[in-house]
Amino acid sequence: PSPGWTVDADVVVVGSGIAGLTVALHYAELEPEAKVLVVTKDQLSSGSTRWAQGGIAAVLDPRDTPDEHLNDTLVAGVGLCDVRAVRTLVTEGPGALRRLMERGARFDRTPEGELQLTREGGHRRRRIVHAGGDATGAEVQRALVEAVRAASIEVIEHALVLDLLKDAQGRARGVTLHVMGEGARDGVGAVHARAVVLATGGMGQVYAVTTNPVVSTGDGVALALRAGAVVRDIEFVQFHPTVLWLGEGSTGQQPLISEAVRGEGAYLIDHEGERFMTGVHELADLAPRDVVAKAIMRKMRESGREHVYLDGRHLGRETWESRFPTIYAVCREHGIDPASEPIPVAPAAHYASGGVRTDLRGRTSIEGLYACGEVACTGVHGANRLASNSLLEGLVFAERIAEDIHASRPSPGDPVPGTGHEGLVDPRVRPRIQAHMSNGAGVLRSRDSLLQTARALRDARWTPVAVPPCTESWEATNLLTVATVLTGAAAARLETRGSHWREDHEVRDDNEWLGHLDVTLTEEGL
Ligand code: SIN
Repeated sequence: PSPGWTVDADVVVVGSGIAGLTVALHYAELEPEAKVLVVTKDQLSSGSTRWAQGGIAAVLDPRDTPDEHLNDTLVAGVGLCDVRAVRTLVTEGPGALRRLMERGARFDRTPEGELQLTREGGHRRRRIVHAGGDATGAEVQRALVEAVRAASIEVIEHALVLDLLKDAQGRARGVTLHVMGEGARDGVGAVHARAVVLATGGMGQVYAVTTNPVVSTGDGVALALRAGAVVRDIEFVQFHPTVLWLGEGSTGQQPLISEAVRGEGAYLIDHEGERFMTGVHELADLAPRDVVAKAIMRKMRESGREHVYLDGRHLGRETWESRFPTIYAVCREHGIDPASEPIPVAPAAHYASGGVRTDLRGRTSIEGLYACGEVACTGVHGANRLASNSLLEGLVFAERIAEDIHASRPSPGDPVPGTGHEGLVDPRVRPRIQAHMSNGAGVLRSRDSLLQTARALRDARWTPVAVPPCTESWEATNLLTVATVLTGAAAARLETRGSHWREDHEVRDDNEWLGHLDVTLTEEGL
């Protein structure tokens, strides 16, 4: 559909988690006269950031060093991290965290007033700051939303991004949006801008069971693919090992049980009450996330059960109540008392380590289009993101993007009309897409399971009648696009590495596969 209204801005930021709001705030500080517009699909605070529990990793302990943080990140990323990107992350991280605190975020402190630091999987040092015990994301989101409101940055809520607008030279010049219930800006409209920042978050909703909120439908990656941008390493989807198991057939967003619970001493046990991570990895229950998720899956397969247990009884009720109030409350809501019984847990889709390929300044392969946060592939995560590096990545690269736009001063230019969406997907197939992805392209993958999934996804596209444009059909279209690309990339990577686990290629292959998989969508398809 053609846009019914147009808004002009200098920079449009799509998405309102830690990445999007930090770009907006930092750019507004650098260029107070400029018009920064944040558009977001639901409300300002509805994205994944507010669900983050564990925290933000940064070298703050005098005994810790950036080199050690770098090394832990590279080990977790299994050969596919971009070392320059990781070095940028670990060296600029502490400063970016300090500026987040200056913007209003408050983290937990010791009685002496120092920041409290915890551990999570893959970290050999205590280096993770947290807030409200296990409500770090909620505090970060609160602080950033308040700062954006105070800075009078313009926001359009309930605005689903549709497509990128480009000028005659192929440079990004804005986006089209579908806005619901925002008065004069209702329906399909356009934002014209000199630079576009995608900060749309992840795509966990391509799976039936995920820690991601319902809004995480891969909209940014799908938009970037339609616009012709390069998407990298999309097959590396991280499954969080410990997600509260809510019973057979429970689907959608599930409650996370933070790795910080293991960081404070809880451990995994099987149905016989035996610990099973000792002996699997030198860090045992605090091994990198892919190692723990795989060990759990193996246990589940051996026992024929749908979950294992996380035992934190020995932490004591007081620790549960004060250090993990969110997790304690959610367990109690579901009839589990973590202070007196082990918690049933199983892995669930958690984080896209790949995404829209960027350089160290967040620039994508399309001039004027930037990507930041989970939607991006900056190179810091490789084949498996290290715990609590994601909020940090959002902070560090957001500031770099704001600085790059400020320094490069993109000139204004007129977008040429886009072609818009063709062949929207029937929203009723969304649960089918999710079920097929979980069954065939989830934690465990093989040639057969991936081919079967690819076939099922092709069938899901077919619809006997034209589907009317609406949020649900655009989301289903985006989900199907990213699911198809993800499945294709997973089928092409003939090895097991990081969070990509091929049952038919069980070992990591550094001869053939120490490289990235870049994907672009052409007129003919992939
Ligand atoms: C957690 O708290 O376990 C999640 C942290 C993360 O995903 O980095």
